[in-house]
Amino acid sequence: MKNVVLLGSSGSIGRSTLRVARALPAHLRVVGLSVHRNYRCALRQAAEFGVRHVGVGDPSMARRCAREAPAGVRVYEGPDGLESLASLAQADVVLCAIVGMAALRPALAAVRAGIDLALASKEVLVAAGAIVTDTARREGARILPVDSEHSAIFQCLSRHGGSDQAMAAGTPCPDVKRLILTASGGPFAFRPEVDLGTVTVDEALAHPRWYMGRKVTVDSATLMNKGLEIMEAHWLFGMPVEAIDVVLHPESIVHSMVEFVDGSVLAQLSLPDMRFAIQYALTCPQRVAGRLPRLDLVKVGALTFREPNGRRFPCLGAAREAARIGGTMPAVLNAANEVAVAEFLEGRISFSGIWKAVARVMNRHRVVRTPSLAEIAEADAWARREVAGGGSRKI
Ligand SMILES: NC(=O)c1ccc[n+]([C@@H]2O[C@H](COP(=O)([O-])OP(=O)(O)OC[C@H]3O[C@@H](n4cnc5c(N)ncnc54)[C@H](OP(=O)(O)O)[C@@H]3O)[C@@H](O)[C@H]2O)c1
Repeated sequence: MKNVVLLGSSGSIGRSTLRVARALPAHLRVVGLSVHRNYRCALRQAAEFGVRHVGVGDPSMARRCAREAPAGVRVYEGPDGLESLASLAQADVVLCAIVGMAALRPALAAVRAGIDLALASKEVLVAAGAIVTDTARREGARILPVDSEHSAIFQCLSRHGGSDQAMAAGTPCPDVKRLILTASGGPFAFRPEVDLGTVTVDEALAHPRWYMGRKVTVDSATLMNKGLEIMEAHWLFGMPVEAIDVVLHPESIVHSMVEFVDGSVLAQLSLPDMRFAIQYALTCPQRVAGRLPRLDLVKVGALTFREPNGRRFPCLGAAREAARIGGTMPAVLNAANEVAVAEFLEGRISFSGIWKAVARVMNRHRVVRTPSLAEIAEADAWARREVAGGGSRKI
């Protein structure tokens, strides 16, 4: 039985995690959960799972939550409260599914407390990969991937010397030559006729395979999501960015692959459902019979792969460039993207304005090579101001 603290319980990953917990009551006990503003959802979930520790990131909503919470439920308020919740003494694992940079402080609090971190929030490793992985290694906490691609690699490596320890250390497995991340391609990668300058918010949110939160869905459509995942894989598996490739795979059945030095390639396959990766992160190294849907390859029929078009989707190249430069640049790319995606969703900039804003902010950034947490936070705040105030409305 593992005690789970779930951060971001009202979101897409959060709700899928609770479905996994509901299906495995003998294996998983939810002991804490958090939201940002949707505290009524948190209280409903707490009542169903018997949770006594509830975090609400927005302080004014947290105060309302505290007034409405039943006796026996403790409410953790604001970002400091989420850090306390993430380091709850009784937690065996913290599943972090908060969208964006807001995930960094609680994720770091968990590993600082030596608690295993099941990580969906890729932005954490993109912005502060060195600090988070060093802290995890020092405190003996494992970082367990929840992103389906990284879970696939984790599963392929688990019998090849790149097992649980490597997750904590980011230690490369000497047998591995290359990681191959698969990408669904979102709604546009297979539609060359679509003018990316004029796509609407609804079109960008119409993902053909996955039902996800709005930010990650737009990231999928620009392929920035895959760029962030390259950096996430770099930190999780200790592989150089040049040894991490991306292939488009519209069926979303092969979730990623590992090529070994002898030329053999291992892949992990399942239907596109995040519960597979969530369940494995929470039960590994055990495999538990749950209620997940079975893959019928005959029904799927064909699995296809294609190279992404880097010219049409510049976010992929921008992310590789940020990773190559390192220091504060990945945090800047991440923050600029977060604000630009929000502006696109609010109708203030065009879809192609997202990568124009990211490129403009990256070009203006003066990189700090080996940044502290405070310098990362400063670079993040600077990039947000640059996008918000720097003429993004013209693009
Ligand atoms: N969805 C997927 O299938 C998927 C797959 C792989 C990786 N991921 C990654 O997982 C993370 C979560 O994605 P998602 O799709 O589940 O997002 P989502 O549906 O938008 O949910 C986000 C969650 O984070 C909370 N939150 C938002 N802002 C916050 C803040 N400032 N402080 C504290 N909590 C905050 C939200 O609470 P409220 O509801 O109260 O706002 C909600 O519970 C992202 O990093 C994404 O890239 C997602």
